[in-house]
Amino acid sequence: METEVAVIHLNGEPCGLGPEDRESLADLARRAGAKSVHPACEHGVCGACNVLVDGVCVRSCLTMARSCEGASVVTLEGLHDALSDSLRQAFSRHHALQCGYCTPGVFVAAYELLESGAALDEAAVRNAMAGNICRCTGYQGIVDAILDVAQQQEQHRIVEEASV
Ligand code: FES
Ligand code: FES
Repeated sequence: METEVAVIHLNGEPCGLGPEDRESLADLARRAGAKSVHPACEHGVCGACNVLVDGVCVRSCLTMARSCEGASVVTLEGLHDALSDSLRQAFSRHHALQCGYCTPGVFVAAYELLESGAALDEAAVRNAMAGNICRCTGYQGIVDAILDVAQQQEQHRIVEEASV
């Protein structure tokens, strides 16, 4: 009897492509059209290939696609909510990208960090983002953009608490 294979959901839709043997999640996502997933080092070092698997930021170059059967995979293309909108605007305001090659992976890591609700200062952001390598920006714009959104979240929390 054949066992039924659970499909991978990519950005909210069934992926439509089955993983090939020994295929990385990065390669599967790109074959399925998620071209924001940028393989760079392909050794788990740079973070350019970051995606969310069931809400957790992972290196898709080191993740076997088959291990994601039944999981929900979200790439930059699939992030469309209030938090990702705020983060996009903050990246633009603070010039947090130049060539953009690292940006999807940086963005996904930043999104996971901000969604965690952790208290953030500059040191905490730099520590959390240390797994993302950017050859262009010098990082300050990225850090400023994340802190900007963290401050917006904090102000929103204060207003909500005051209105209860
Ligand atoms: S390409 Fe995956 S960590 Fe660099
Ligand atoms: S913006 Fe060019 S590598 Fe980061």
